[in-house]
Amino acid sequence: MSWFPILLVIHITLAVGLLLPSVLLPFVLRRSSSDGPPGPATRALMAMQGTGTIIIAAGLAITGAAMLWILGPELLTQPWLMVALILYAINLAVAAFISRPNLRRLIGLRQASADDETWRRRARQQRLVAYGMAGVIGVIGMLMSTKPNLW
Ligand code: HEM
Repeated sequence: MSWFPILLVIHITLAVGLLLPSVLLPFVLRRSSSDGPPGPATRALMAMQGTGTIIIAAGLAITGAAMLWILGPELLTQPWLMVALILYAINLAVAAFISRPNLRRLIGLRQASADDETWRRRARQQRLVAYGMAGVIGVIGMLMSTKPNLW
């Protein structure tokens, strides 16, 4: 039995799981800039954008590596995969060193009931980070689906 189709379905599901919080969080953050702690949906999306991204990215690397094993490691010389993996590494670094700490600060600010302007400024930063991450994930997905001849 070939594991490839199963791995591909899991891989694409994880890719969507990585993309969704980055797309939805900016809207939820914009709406929840009023007073009071972020609601359960916002906190869930913030958790998925923070630690969730690291966990899902690990799943993408494992399923991706398994598919590489089946298809043959020479696929790694393909320009589309090299560019996709560089973007993947950048996205992971942004998630770990910028997005996650910023989300933690956002939750902390609300619990400490800091003034609204500080919260709004941090939420704006997080929205920009989320837009950027969504864009990068989209480009990776496009590269891995269309496998363009880059050079
Ligand atoms: C943000 C991260 C990632 C996203 C959004 C993503 C997305 C995708 C998508 C949408 C496909 C399906 C392409 C098709 O239509 O057949 C795919 C296939 C694949 N991905 Fe990823 N992927 C990601 C990370 C990775 C990583 C880290 C690896 C390697 C370690 C990897 C290796 C592969 C391989 C080998 C395939 C199969 C390509 C083929 O069918 O020839 N991916 N990926």
